[in-house]
Amino acid sequence: MNRRIGILTGGGDVAPLNSLINSAKNAADNLDIELFGFIKGWDGVINNRLIKLSTFRFNSAIGGTILKSSRIDIKKIKNGKTKILNVLNANNISGLIVVGGDDTLSNSFYLQSIPQILISKTIDNDVGQIGFKNDKSELKNILNYFTLGYPTAASKIASFVSLKEGLRTTAYSHERIVVVESMGMHAGWLALSSSMGHPDIIIIPEFPLDREQLLEKVIEIYQKKRHAIIVVAEGAKWKDGSYIFSQKDEIENFNHPRFGGSSTVLQQFLKEKLSKYFKTRDINTVNPSYLYRSGTPSTLDRTWARLLGKTAVEILAKKKFESIFLSIQKKNSGFTIREFPLSNLDSFDEIHRLVDDRFYKSENFQITPLGREYLKAIIKEAPRYKQYGLVS
Ligand code: F6P
Repeated sequence: MNRRIGILTGGGDVAPLNSLINSAKNAADNLDIELFGFIKGWDGVINNRLIKLSTFRFNSAIGGTILKSSRIDIKKIKNGKTKILNVLNANNISGLIVVGGDDTLSNSFYLQSIPQILISKTIDNDVGQIGFKNDKSELKNILNYFTLGYPTAASKIASFVSLKEGLRTTAYSHERIVVVESMGMHAGWLALSSSMGHPDIIIIPEFPLDREQLLEKVIEIYQKKRHAIIVVAEGAKWKDGSYIFSQKDEIENFNHPRFGGSSTVLQQFLKEKLSKYFKTRDINTVNPSYLYRSGTPSTLDRTWARLLGKTAVEILAKKKFESIFLSIQKKNSGFTIREFPLSNLDSFDEIHRLVDDRFYKSENFQITPLGREYLKAIIKEAPRYKQYGLVS
């Protein structure tokens, strides 16, 4: 019997997952390895739901994941580890490719007796580390420059707020304030990437919001431009640490509340506090929500998804029994893949990456020059406001 390995996708879906799965499937075929896809992430491993991918045909150019996805915390499942080992043994599966965000991948850390190749995917871009193990040499030392799906989602939010493709023209034409909501429960990377489309204010979870400072800034911008675009992350917080909006009674497996509504709360707040300056109808919201992670992948996302899928299979084919995190490293003007043994980490939290003050300046609600330099390697910057000659 040929060697058998498995692949699963967990957490929020992202655009390039099918490209990755298809490339892993082709690599496995070339190496005479049987690749099995577990259905709905770790849930499929626990419940023995799997398909043989080599005989399965699908369109790898579309977004989402043909294997479906779930959020499962194995530690919370009775005999979860044993169930997983039993299913893998019963199916003769000797290694796993785990594609997920921080929650899905944290399960792998707990299951290190199984040879695994970990690949990060999340529009949140929060798996990795900038200045790994406290080496602060900034952009030169980034573990995992980006997570799969982030480049596609980052280009979208930048375009949604830009002058050429996005909301700037209508905000300008009607002299309105538009509050755009970004995804990102704890990490502000997606909201921050909107800066490549030049919004006026960006509010992210890592830097709690001072109400007075926001009001002053909005008035300052409005007096200058007579319109404004504000981007707020779904998981943004007020100064006292409370979420601007979260649905506390909808907790999921990893204890995250349901988000989605910070833009509306902020809109109400601005309407109330600034009623003497604006007609309330002139403060609006847009929440693209799942549109950030839907649709087809960008070229960068698709290219690296394919390479990571192929590399993962090739590593497992060598029968090395060490679990490896595949990191996308910056190399000259492009990227390369680095094999990062999981044993280098004391805990998976070490590579949970948040935005810090090297990348965001809370005094003016904007990205720093270093942050812009970081993003330039991933997405295109939209032309600036002034280049179009609009007067305010
Ligand atoms: O983890 C990725 C992500 O897209 C987050 O940005 C978002 O908060 C979350 O998933 C929402 O996921 P869902 O609604 O599918 O549970």
